Amino acid sequence: MRSPLPDYMTEVLEACSDEDDGELAAYIPELAEADPSRLALALATPDGTRYAVGDADVRFTIQSISKPFAYALALVDHGLDAVLEHVGVEPSGEAFNEISLDPSTNRPLNPMINAGAITVHSLLDADRVAAGFAAFAGRDLEVDEQVYASELATADRNHAIAYMLRNHGIIDADPHAVVDGYTRQCSLLVDVGDLAVMAATLANAGTHPVTGEQVVPRWVARQTLAVMTTCGMYDAAGDWFTTVGIPAKSGVSGGLIGALPGKGGFAALSPRLDRHGNSTRGVRIFERLSGDMGMHLM
Ligand code: DON
Repeated sequence: MRSPLPDYMTEVLEACSDEDDGELAAYIPELAEADPSRLALALATPDGTRYAVGDADVRFTIQSISKPFAYALALVDHGLDAVLEHVGVEPSGEAFNEISLDPSTNRPLNPMINAGAITVHSLLDADRVAAGFAAFAGRDLEVDEQVYASELATADRNHAIAYMLRNHGIIDADPHAVVDGYTRQCSLLVDVGDLAVMAATLANAGTHPVTGEQVVPRWVARQTLAVMTTCGMYDAAGDWFTTVGIPAKSGVSGGLIGALPGKGGFAALSPRLDRHGNSTRGVRIFERLSGDMGMHLM
């Protein structure tokens, strides 16, 4: 029998399609050119079933949705204690690109804000990022060279963060090289189907639902989902968790993932953002899914 899920997912998109609140991310010139009408939704379940509706074939840059996956790779490579020496796990309550560190330790507060993600990236090399993201997605991901160049040309704030991190001994590497690599990581091209499978891998205790590969160990998936829960939606994390109630991560190109432990991964795309940098219609879509499907973890 044909699943009712794709029709239901299309209905959810239609119900949210008229909303046009929010703005494109203007601080990365290339993202300001995106088509704001794009709208897509995908789901991947632990048995490898996948559904995608709307503009599901549109590829866009992963941006901050790369942060939990890079964090997971750093945990695998260095272990929890070593990673915690560089970056904490506390919500910052600040904007994602705030130039701030924990005053008592000089560490970035968490790996989801830019300061923490730049630090995490410094713990990985380019080959590890490429191979690790390919394992999460189940295919090799390409860099969007135009978005990468556009972001790097205007990355003064991230350079300021990286210099501050090196000043405090949190990163060892050359700040320019780290921001360059981090920007390439953020410029990897994905579609909502890729993101749903990546989220499902975390939700599935680190095992990829389609390839069957144990991409990261269970403890790493748990640590990553926990940090997504408390910090993934930045200074809207409390609103998100009370209303939607699942581990999540947003990106400034309008992507948004949610991972339901044991149940699978969802991903939405809609480029207009709210003041926190989270996709406006993406948040609406997840609020609806959570209400209709009883996804809230509480
Ligand atoms: O570093 C930046 O500012 C971007 N590459 C990523 C920021 C981002 O996606 C914030 N999330 N909503």
